[in-house]
Amino acid sequence: MRDLILKELKQQDHISGEQLAKQFNISRTAIWKHVNELRKMGYEIESHPHYGYALIKNTDLLVPEEITFELNTNVIGKRILHLSEVDSTQNIADKLAREGAEEGTCVIAEKQTSGRGRRSRNWASPFKDGVYISIILRPNLKPLHIIQIPLIAGVALVKAMEKTTSLTPSIKWPNDIFLSGRKVAGILTEVNCDIDTVHYIVLGIGINVNTRKTALPKEIKGTATSLSQECGHDISRVDFLKQLLLELETAYNEFVTNGFEAIGKQWMAYNNTIGSNIKVNDGQTEIEGKALRIDDDGFLIIKTDDGQTQRIISADISLK
Ligand code: BTN
Repeated sequence: MRDLILKELKQQDHISGEQLAKQFNISRTAIWKHVNELRKMGYEIESHPHYGYALIKNTDLLVPEEITFELNTNVIGKRILHLSEVDSTQNIADKLAREGAEEGTCVIAEKQTSGRGRRSRNWASPFKDGVYISIILRPNLKPLHIIQIPLIAGVALVKAMEKTTSLTPSIKWPNDIFLSGRKVAGILTEVNCDIDTVHYIVLGIGINVNTRKTALPKEIKGTATSLSQECGHDISRVDFLKQLLLELETAYNEFVTNGFEAIGKQWMAYNNTIGSNIKVNDGQTEIEGKALRIDDDGFLIIKTDDGQTQRIISADISLK
C-alpha cells in the first residue's frame, strides 16, 4: 500500500487524503499513517489543509519504492530486499538463494559492518555513501565459465557510470573499475556449484558513490576514489543504481542469448589491462609480463618476461 501511495504522490502535484483514501479504499487515518512512514524513510511530504499532500523531495535511500519505480527490467531487481545495516549483503543473498529465491533477487544495504572483497579483503561500506548490492543469478553455465559473470558485471558498471556521470571509467582485469588510476568499484562473485553444474551465483557489487576520503580506511585512501570525488559533486545513488540494474540486465540477457563474444568485445573496449606491462600475484607467487588478450573464456593471456605465454585464471593484477 505504501508504495502505491508513493506512486500516486510522485505522479500528482498534490492529492488530498480523502482522494487517496477513496482510491485505495482505506481510511484517511490509514493514509496519514502511511504518509508518516514515508516521511520517516526520508521523503519530504508537505500537507496542506486545502490541497492535501505534496511530495517535495524524494529520499536517496535505496528502498524498493525508489528503485523499482519505472525500473525497466524484467528480472534483475524485480524483488528487492533493503536493509539499513547488515554484516554483508552476500550472506543474506546466499541464504535466500539456498532457500530458492528467484533469479534477479537483489539484497541492498545502506551500510555493511563486514563487507567483503576478493581474497578475503574488507570492503569499506559506510552508511548511505556507496551502493552495496548482492544479486542472485542462476545461469545455465559450466563452472569453468564463471569468470565471464564478473566481466559482464564490469561492462554493466562502466556503462552505468558513463550514463549517469561525465566520467570515463576503465576496467582492470578481471573486474576492478578504475577512475583516474584509482579503484571506484569492485565485484565479488561467490558461487554455489558442483563439479559440472552452477546452482547459483551471488554477484556482489560495491561502488563508492558519494564516499568521502575521510570515510575510507587509511590503507586504501591513496588507491581508492568515489564517483563524487571524481565529479566534484554528489550523485543520486537511486538513479545510478537503477541504471546499473538496467545495464546488468541488458548485458546478462545478451550473454544468456548469444554467449560471451559480444560482451567480451565490449569488455575489451573498456579495459586498461591489455597491452600493459603487469604484475600478477596469485597469493603465492608473483610474475611479471605483458597482458596480451583475454581468451574466449575470459581468462587473461600474458607473455611473461622470460618469454612464456601463460593463461591466468585468478589473480591480482597491478599495472606497472
Ligand atoms: C572487490 O573488489 O574486492 C570486490 C568488492 C565487493 C564488495 C561488495 S559490496 C556488496 C557485496 N557485499 C559484500 O560483502 N561484498 C560485496
